[in-house]
Formats: sequence, structure tokens, C-alpha cells
Amino acid sequence: MHLVIIGAGEFQKPIIEKANEMGYETHVFAWESGATGKSVAHHFYPISVTEKELILEACKKIKPIGIVTGASDLTNITVQFIAERLGLIGNSRSCIEKTTNKFIMRNALRKAGIRTPEYICVSQGDEIEGKLKSFKFPLIIKPTDRSGSRGVCRVNSISDVEKAVQIALLHSFEKRIIIEDFIEGNEYSCETISYRGKHHLLAVTEKYTTGFPNYIETGHIQPAGLSFELEHRIKETVFSALDALEVENGAAHTELKVNGEGIMIIESGSRMGGDCIGTHLVPLSTGIDYTKLVINVACGIEPVIPENMKGKSAGIRFIFDKNDYDRLALIKREFPHRLGYVYETEETIRKITESGERKGFYIVIDRERMDVAKILAMEQRD
Ligand SMILES: Nc1ncnc2c1ncn2[C@@H]1O[C@H](COP(=O)(O)OP(=O)(O)OP(=O)(O)O)[C@@H](O)[C@H]1O
Ligand SMILES: [Mg+2]
Repeated sequence: MHLVIIGAGEFQKPIIEKANEMGYETHVFAWESGATGKSVAHHFYPISVTEKELILEACKKIKPIGIVTGASDLTNITVQFIAERLGLIGNSRSCIEKTTNKFIMRNALRKAGIRTPEYICVSQGDEIEGKLKSFKFPLIIKPTDRSGSRGVCRVNSISDVEKAVQIALLHSFEKRIIIEDFIEGNEYSCETISYRGKHHLLAVTEKYTTGFPNYIETGHIQPAGLSFELEHRIKETVFSALDALEVENGAAHTELKVNGEGIMIIESGSRMGGDCIGTHLVPLSTGIDYTKLVINVACGIEPVIPENMKGKSAGIRFIFDKNDYDRLALIKREFPHRLGYVYETEETIRKITESGERKGFYIVIDRERMDVAKILAMEQRD
């Protein structure tokens, strides 16, 4: 049986490997450059993941049973396009618009009565100062249609707005940006799987970022260490958001913040969480093979969520600077048995402004989340 996979980067490789293990003949589409997954694919097609029509033509010959991807919005758009054309399981076009464009997403959430920050959408050349009259600083400015914290910036006063707007516009494909209230609080994400509109929560991830001004993710830990009551409230909010965004099939990764006033959705993607959250942390912390479930759903097989699975705690830390390399060296020396996975690039260190520029990562596994946090030396910064 043939399975098509869109994307072949380091974060997609575990999906190709899992599909091979499950007995599928894998057909992988991606640019050659950075395609580390090419070596494990049965068939590799050097076609850019955004070449939807070319991929569709090839897929008509392959006749796959399903089509999947990992954590990228760009590849997710192509997967939806192909799945719809070939009558395969996936999400609707409306869902993909709502889960890859932050403005369309905010509109859908607000329409469904889900709490959202105040927000406006701005295009190149628009007058902004007047539109911000009713807003209170700080604000977040970000492109409507990018990910990986590209062009995301918090601004503390009106004098910072113009520069941040220009940077965000530069990154936006559609040349539109969203300006919204900055939400205080701790940040989490929910990793879910859906099948024919029914959602299952697999894990809540506690998320750490560089904080002001670009909020690049520095690491994640599962489980999030929440009370049963808070986790339940988060789950209800996230499931309502998934309904509002029309997520019906497959993985979703929903980011949110929690503060004294409640829960606020930051954004939701109808795909796995990147940064090894879906492929590594979920299986380590829950014992559930998330990637396998995602492939199953894409092939029309209902996901069976094993009950009472007990995982450990797992955390990932990204390498930004010399301190992170030093910490990794220390972990290798002192806690080698706690180190689950290490990936280092050869690049020299320079200032990092988006997640794609990080230098690698390491995963730590232990029985208790406190121990993982301690070994990774995580700190919450807002
Ligand atoms: N309204 C907001 N209030 C507070 N923080 C925010 C807000 N919007 C974004 N952030 C912070 O900026 C980070 C990146 O924003 P967002 O997730 O919307 O962009 P992204 O480019 O999709 O990033 P990524 O792909 O890393 O998730 C968030 O994880 C969060 O820490
Ligand atoms: Mg995000």
C-alpha cells in the first residue's frame, strides 16, 4: 500500500520511518536541500512541497491510500489540496485557511464565542495609529501567514510600532499582519488527534520561550504539571476551538496562555506540533504512538487511544548559544542515561531571531517533570 508524505526535513524523518515500519511503501515529496528523510524513503521526488499541481499529477499515478505530513503549515496546505482532489481523508479547505492564517483564525474563534484578544489586520500602506486608539500596550505584531516566530514582535509603545509592522510585513506571504493584545501568563500547547470530528487530548505541553521581544521557543516539557481541574478547562476550550476551526481529521497543535482571567488561545494548527513535540515528546510522556495514529487517521483507520498508559516526563531544549552547548556537555557528563536524543548542527553561533536558526536540540527523559526541568535548567520568562 502506498502512502504519500509531504516534506523530508529532520522533523519529518520520524514520520517516514514510522510509515515504513507500518508496512507502507513511502512516496516522499520535498526539495533536495535539507531532505535528510530522503535516505529512508522508498521513493523520493525532488519537487518543492509548494508545487501542489505537480505533486497532484504524480499522486494520481501513485494512487496512495493516504497522505500525511508533520508539523509544517506549508506542507499541511499541500496535503489538504491533494487529499481533497483524490478523495482521501483530511480536513476541508475552510479548515486549512482557518488554521494557517492567524487573522482568519481569530475571526473564526471570535464568531464561535471563544475568548480572543482584541486584534486588527493591517496591510501595507494602511494608516495604523488611528486604528490603535482603543488598544492598550503592550501589543503583539505578527505576520498573518507565517510560523516559527518569523516576524513576531512585542511592542511596548506606539514609537516601536512602525518598525515591527515593517518587519512583520516583510515576512508575510500575503503582505498582511495582525496586531493584537499581548496576553500575559504561562504558555502551553495541547496535542490532539481527531477523527471524523471527534477530538482526543493526548498531552499538554509546557512551553518556554526567549520572552521579549521575539518569543522564540527555547524548550518544552510534558506533562505540563497542571491540576486536573485546569487541564479539564483547557481541554474544553481547545475542543471548542478545534470545532470552530473545523478540524475534523488528524493531529492538531493548539497554543494557549493561562492567566488569572482564564484561558486564551494563541493559535491552532491542524497538524502535529513541531520541535519534536509530536514525534518524540508525546510518545515518551504518554506511551502513545502519536505518529502512528496520525498515519492511521490519514488512511481512514480510527485512532485507538490506549487507556491508563503511563509515560515518563520528557523535555526538549534548543541550542541557542554557548551556554546551551555547555549545559549539553554537562548533561552528557553527569546524566548520560537521561539523554534521549541529541541533534547538533555545525553552524557557528550568531544572534537568533527565529526558530529556524536554532543550532540543534537535546531531549531529556526522567520519571518526574521537576527533574527534567532541573536538568534542562528551564525558566519561565514573559
Ligand atoms: N497575543 C499574544 N500574547 C502574548 N504572547 C503572544 C501573542 N501572540 C504570540 N505570542 C507569543 O509569540 C509566540 C509566537 O507567536 P505565534 O505562535 O502566533 O507565531 P508563530 O510564528 O506561529 O510561532 P511558532 O510557529 O513558533 O508557534 C507565541 O508562542 C507566544 O509566546
Ligand atoms: Mg505558534
